[in-house]
Amino acid sequence: MRAIVTGAAGFVGSSLSEAVLDRGGSVVGVDCFTDYYARAIKERNLGRLRDESRFRLVEDNILNVDWAPLLAETDVVFHQAAQAGVRASWGAEFRNYTDWNVLGTQRLLEAIKALPVADRPRVVYASSSSVYGERTNFPFFESDRPAPISPYGVTKLAAEHLAVLYAHNFGVETVSLRYFTVYGPRQRPDMAFHKFLRAIIQGEELPIYGDGLQTRDFTYVSDAISANFAAAENGRPGGVYNIGGGSQVTVNHTLEVLAKVSNRPVKINRMEKQHGDVTHTAAATTLANEELAWKPQVSLEEGLSRELPYVEELIAAGL
Ligand SMILES: NC(=O)c1ccc[n+]([C@@H]2O[C@H](COP(=O)([O-])OP(=O)(O)OC[C@H]3O[C@@H](n4cnc5c(N)ncnc54)[C@H](O)[C@@H]3O)[C@@H](O)[C@H]2O)c1
Repeated sequence: MRAIVTGAAGFVGSSLSEAVLDRGGSVVGVDCFTDYYARAIKERNLGRLRDESRFRLVEDNILNVDWAPLLAETDVVFHQAAQAGVRASWGAEFRNYTDWNVLGTQRLLEAIKALPVADRPRVVYASSSSVYGERTNFPFFESDRPAPISPYGVTKLAAEHLAVLYAHNFGVETVSLRYFTVYGPRQRPDMAFHKFLRAIIQGEELPIYGDGLQTRDFTYVSDAISANFAAAENGRPGGVYNIGGGSQVTVNHTLEVLAKVSNRPVKINRMEKQHGDVTHTAAATTLANEELAWKPQVSLEEGLSRELPYVEELIAAGL
């Protein structure tokens, strides 16, 4: 497999790039090192990749990349680059969300559309459970009407719609995966488990927004990666699939798991619920199971016990 991975220096993108190499493929990674979190963390993510002859990094913004020469030698584009984060998407920063998440995706799709049909790579787009918004019926099905409640979710949905449109109108073979909270080693420092583990290791209080009864469907990173391969192989062009870890758990329950995994006391600082944070997420993964033959494999306890040493290493490195 000859792959392009956008966002290759990020959490999912770097892990996915390594997995392509492990399967004998080659990767052109594209990343512009946005300043959402420290470049030093992204450079650590790239550590192994930089030494691999079958990996090449194009340091550029997806808005400006000259796609044609890159796409000419590509079987699949794993499109992970985006401005992530719900809370930062309100206010002045929204421009990054529209430029990178929406316009950046449209430019990539246009570049693929311009190729002769036989030369077009598939695109697997990293969508998000945030497209669903606040729902009272669980679990969420792909056929449910999306209604995001954060500007981030609006841009992820807009790009997903574009992916579907380019498939239906021009035969560009896109497959969208709605990830439900991905975690594991390299998880972004703004994400809850990363923050929680950091606080526990440093003996600090964990910031818990709301009453802790909010639920999430957590997806271990290797499960998100296997979904990308399954989508590249078996995904229906224009298809949209939920990718969730399979268990809907309360934040309070995750605190118990964190205490067990870390074998340390967990101190809590309750804070007000944040605008744009969805109260509950739960993925119905029947479609991914039936059409992609995909199933999550890694339990929350196992996954968190693998993320813990990563956060310890980061702290030891002063990051
Ligand atoms: N992590 C999750 O729980 C989660 C959940 C749902 C969806 N997603 C989606 O998965 C993808 C990967 O998320 P992540 O957690 O790995 O984020 P991340 O921030 O760690 O990785 C994204 C990478 O993309 C790069 N990037 C951003 N905009 C770019 C641009 N315009 N040009 C070039 N590079 C750019 C960043 O520098 C970063 O290295 C994103 O599309 C995100 O929206 C993630």
